[in-house]
Amino acid sequence: MSAYWLGIDVGTGGSRALLVDEAGRIVAAHTAAHEEMRMEKPLWAEQQPQNWWDACQDAIRGVLAAAQVNGTAVRGVSLSGQMHGLVILDAAGEVIRPSLIWCDQRSQAQVDAINARAGKERILACIANPVLTGFTLPKLLWVRDNEPGLYERVRHLLLPKDFIRYKLTGEFATEVSDASGTALFDVVNRRWSFELAEILGIDRAILPKVYESEELTGVISAAAAEATGLAAGTPVIGGGGDQAASAVGNGIVETGLVSDTIGTSGVVFAHMDSVAYDPAGRVHTFCHAVRGKWHVMGVTQGAGLSLQWFRNQLAPGASYDALTQEAAGSAAGARGLFWLPYLMGERTPHLDSICRAAWIGLTAAHTRADMAKALLEGVCYSQKDCLDIIRSLGCGVQSVRLSGGGAKSPMWKQLFADVFATPVTVLETQEGSAYGAALLAMTGTGAFASVAEACRATVREVETVRPSAESAFYLRAHSVYQSLYPALRDSFRAIDSLG
Ligand code: XUL
Repeated sequence: MSAYWLGIDVGTGGSRALLVDEAGRIVAAHTAAHEEMRMEKPLWAEQQPQNWWDACQDAIRGVLAAAQVNGTAVRGVSLSGQMHGLVILDAAGEVIRPSLIWCDQRSQAQVDAINARAGKERILACIANPVLTGFTLPKLLWVRDNEPGLYERVRHLLLPKDFIRYKLTGEFATEVSDASGTALFDVVNRRWSFELAEILGIDRAILPKVYESEELTGVISAAAAEATGLAAGTPVIGGGGDQAASAVGNGIVETGLVSDTIGTSGVVFAHMDSVAYDPAGRVHTFCHAVRGKWHVMGVTQGAGLSLQWFRNQLAPGASYDALTQEAAGSAAGARGLFWLPYLMGERTPHLDSICRAAWIGLTAAHTRADMAKALLEGVCYSQKDCLDIIRSLGCGVQSVRLSGGGAKSPMWKQLFADVFATPVTVLETQEGSAYGAALLAMTGTGAFASVAEACRATVREVETVRPSAESAFYLRAHSVYQSLYPALRDSFRAIDSLG
């Protein structure tokens, strides 16, 4: 009987299940959409964990049906997912409240309190990163400060994909790459920072068991087998946060390789053999999904989100292809129009939870095509900010592997190459996170000897896009873009104080 492995990615927009064969070739994939994130206030974002689980069951059943594969032929499963989200469960394993997801920015007061209590230097020594509003820890403390009745019931803390693992296996477990984004994880030593938990009065018993990404974390339970069509007893391997898993899917498992993944967020990601930090904390230093390795990544909060928001609000019904084609009708620099993509505050390079998005430079002559072009360019400028910091850490960058939405449009690919002034490459398989999870499932069940071997056997570059003559223009335009945030910083604070 043929053998298959399943990678599941619990994204923001939907959950995707992807099946590969013995050679790591994609056999089928199926996505089930999530409900839109609930934004009760600006910069707040919640989703229902039960909705992810419903979508995962649909996705798994859908992919098995599409491939006409019986669950008993699946040799291993692994998981990838949106990072940093807070999932809290009570003693009965029931979800206590909706998840505050990765882009929720409500916890600045808790970040300030953590810094005051623990001290920024001690925090850096404990977790190798500053605490940011996006991370899980301040979200947990927001619940403690604002919903004490709910906090009292918390017995388990999980990340989004690990909630799915719990539903699949009954185990409370995570792995090093996703744990790194909680702000409670000792990234250098690859274990929970009980020291920081203690300083902040957090009960260490709520933290799940932590594994390396390729380790066995449990098996499919009888109930999950019934719900999904998988076979009870199938191994469930650790997996990775979506960025580390996507890096595995993109083969970013050796020094010198850098990727850029455009999903809802945009992430520039570099592999590291040893730990290196940006002293200003503008990029994250996390454990990689490769045993004993780390990575550094810079995050634009509103990358694909910019395009999604634009489509939903200003071009309802238009496809993303139609919008990028429309943008191609504008000129380099969108005729003097700039987009700051800070729709959900910004991480890299500003670490600013309350800054806001803006078009700057609008005139009556501008069209929707210019607005769309400025928007695509703004995302590229923001990702260039990430790339420049990563370069400054000594990660040699010869080219950037592009994946996600940005890799699909010829026009956007050229823009990335021009703005980065660096060749961008595209891979044969552009499945990113779900594919990386499938490769981790294969490695964890012995189909490959290591993650690096899995990548060597499966990841192939098929296209290189080199910077064009417009690159010189974009170098100047990027410095104009960089001057805009500092000019507006105080105004963002004034806007926020209006309430
Ligand atoms: C990474 C991050 C996002 C989310 C959603 O730090 O916050 O990439 O994982 O994709």
